[in-house]
Amino acid sequence: MGEKILVTGGAGFIGSHLVDALLAAGHEVRILDALEPQVHGDLRARGEVPDYLNPAAELILGDIRNPEVVQRALSGIDVLFHEAALVGVGQSMYEIARYTDVNASGAAVVLQAVANLPQRPRKMIVASSMSIYGEGAYVCPAHGRVFPRLRETAQLQQRDWEMRCPVSGCGERCAAIPTDEEKPLYPTSVYAVNKRDHEEMFLAVGRAYDVPTVALRYFNVYGTRQALSNPYTGVAAIFSGRLLNGKPPVIFEDGGQSRDFTHVSDIVQANLLVMEKAEADFGVFNVGTSRALTIYHVAQALIQHLGLSIEPEVVEKFRAGDIRHCFADTSRLAALGYQPKLRFEDGVAELVEWVRRQTAEDRFEMAREELKGRGLTL
Ligand code: UD1
Repeated sequence: MGEKILVTGGAGFIGSHLVDALLAAGHEVRILDALEPQVHGDLRARGEVPDYLNPAAELILGDIRNPEVVQRALSGIDVLFHEAALVGVGQSMYEIARYTDVNASGAAVVLQAVANLPQRPRKMIVASSMSIYGEGAYVCPAHGRVFPRLRETAQLQQRDWEMRCPVSGCGERCAAIPTDEEKPLYPTSVYAVNKRDHEEMFLAVGRAYDVPTVALRYFNVYGTRQALSNPYTGVAAIFSGRLLNGKPPVIFEDGGQSRDFTHVSDIVQANLLVMEKAEADFGVFNVGTSRALTIYHVAQALIQHLGLSIEPEVVEKFRAGDIRHCFADTSRLAALGYQPKLRFEDGVAELVEWVRRQTAEDRFEMAREELKGRGLTL
């Protein structure tokens, strides 16, 4: 039997794909979304909704910081997926109050409403992020497994990008290894701190009120519907937006930094899985592919699939708060039946098909200047 489900941020990139899958599985879905202009342009002002939005879902247009709206959205809900958040890592370092207000206070308003409900949901699932780890896990030839903090400014100024062993007096070059959920959390941006708050607040409130809760630590998500004109979104969308405008992708550092690029359909798969599995309750899980791809590779793959002859611009600069490598150990979620299905080669082909049909405003330079002006690139 279908359940009644609320997806906050359900008009966004990940949320809207989740909404489609929940509807397809026979559930009744309600969306709470503010149609944030940075993501959705002037749609809200024009009284419109994104063209991909599934009409079978009920849409409540409103802000997660508004207690009355949140209370209305939660009434009669069996399962809550909390996807609403501001997502720009770089932007969070200069819009500190806004990020913390929307992300942390917004989550607090949602949880306050849950606590006050006469009948609470049977489950809550919160979107967390790999960014809460800070750097991923590494292995040093001399010291084995190490969990370094951010690279030192002096090292970065020498354009020495790879991770060095943090053990005093060592400094050997380390190799990235898969990061599991037990790695200590060293969030290095306000966004990452907000995401750790999300996770801990949801789990604490869930435990106190006996509402089974799960936090999913998404690795770098890509796919259709990621906002191409938002210069603060993920790198695959930023590069796509640049390329659509005939401009080269701008690559920070030397392009050898890597991430675990996870197709949005695998993120959706993980959400549906933990919704059904009681073994997931009160757990935290990585959602990734266990495979690291360099940023240079991602730029090249997009260029190649779009059939362009543009060279990426490698700027050898450091963006404040950036980590060098992080990719997922997904064995904890795999034990519940998760297996990433879409390889990057196939996912990027699908992404490019969609990108070709889009128009995007290139606001990258503006964002770059903003970071530079504030000394947030080195
Ligand atoms: C991203 C998401 C974050 C999410 C996390 C885990 C954004 C902005 N960040 O963080 O919300 O929680 O993954 O899924 O969506 N880069 C360039 N050129 C650019 C943009 C980025 O070289 O124009 C580089 C960055 O310096 C970095 C890498 O690409 O080394 C990845 O950057 P980004 O896509 O912002 O991802 P994360 O910071 O990993």
